[in-house]
Amino acid sequence: MADSRQNPRTPLSPYRRPRRLRTTPALRALTAETRLHPSDFILPMFFADGISEPREISSMPGVYQHTLDSLKAAVAEAREAGVLCVDLFGVPLAEDKDATGSVGWAEDGVLNRAVAALREEFGDDVIVMADTCLDEFTDHGHCGVVAEDRFGRLMVDNDATLELYQKMAVSQAAAGAHVVSPSGMMDGQVRAIREALDDAGYADVAIMAYSAKYASAFFGPFREAVGSSLKGDRRTYQQDPANLKESLLETQLDIDEGADFVMVKPALPYLDVLAAVAEMSPVPVAAYQVSGEYAMIEAASRNGWVDRDRVMMESLTSIKRAGAEQILSYYAVSAARLLNSGEY
Ligand code: PBG
Repeated sequence: MADSRQNPRTPLSPYRRPRRLRTTPALRALTAETRLHPSDFILPMFFADGISEPREISSMPGVYQHTLDSLKAAVAEAREAGVLCVDLFGVPLAEDKDATGSVGWAEDGVLNRAVAALREEFGDDVIVMADTCLDEFTDHGHCGVVAEDRFGRLMVDNDATLELYQKMAVSQAAAGAHVVSPSGMMDGQVRAIREALDDAGYADVAIMAYSAKYASAFFGPFREAVGSSLKGDRRTYQQDPANLKESLLETQLDIDEGADFVMVKPALPYLDVLAAVAEMSPVPVAAYQVSGEYAMIEAASRNGWVDRDRVMMESLTSIKRAGAEQILSYYAVSAARLLNSGEY
């Protein structure tokens, strides 16, 4: 057989004209290598205790802390647009916060009430995922129990926190969550949660593991969204933005411990990490376009500096191109609607 590199009709040929396939919208659509679909998206949502009207988050225009009624209505709209999964975060009353975040696993706690209400309303038509982390519920705002270590340093105590995550995941499964989503970056959290779920009879509940989660300033607006009490940062448990190899270790551990999905977060500043994780992961890989990514696009487009819809779709397409199979995004419904309109 002739060596194909000698053939003038191969891609290496100087006669090859890539622009031919860009000539018309139909040709471009026919040859697109990456396509978004409404079912790619997971919509993160906030349910707040003690409010009678939905409250817009000022650093995330268009995103709300919901009442039960507005939450149900927004989930119905998401489903209508073809978004199949929502990820719930709870915003408790300030006076319900304590050192261990106990309202986080209380049966009548804000998050479990939202999970139960959505399961009751939507059954299996919407996948209900719950955030399994304590930072919204602790009075210090950290993702677990804070204790002095043997040198007197204040740290989040890994193993004491795992026990609380186990209680929380089991309470979320009992409330009806299809998926629990540990986001606290404690070592061994996936194994601990898997064991607790299985022991409690919830072998059917899946785990979406925040595997490669960075100590990122892009989470800024989220702290407003959940009324976080955090002072300081999470650098002793979330990853250093300088590191890539470490994400492969984190991901491998989560897979070994039983993660059903792994996740990279944030998304756009970490597309190299996402591509590397997608390359090695035998389980579905999600990416989270976080609050700060959303806020930047909204701020620039509200100033007339970028075209919102195009930047939104370009960033989501890039996240999928890099290897994400599921995308958590505050744009889930807007993007799904645009896709349904046939414009993208
Ligand atoms: C922690 C958690 C955070 C986010 C999701 N889960 C905040 C943090 O780790 O500080 C951030 C999401 C976003 O910024 O959109 N429970």
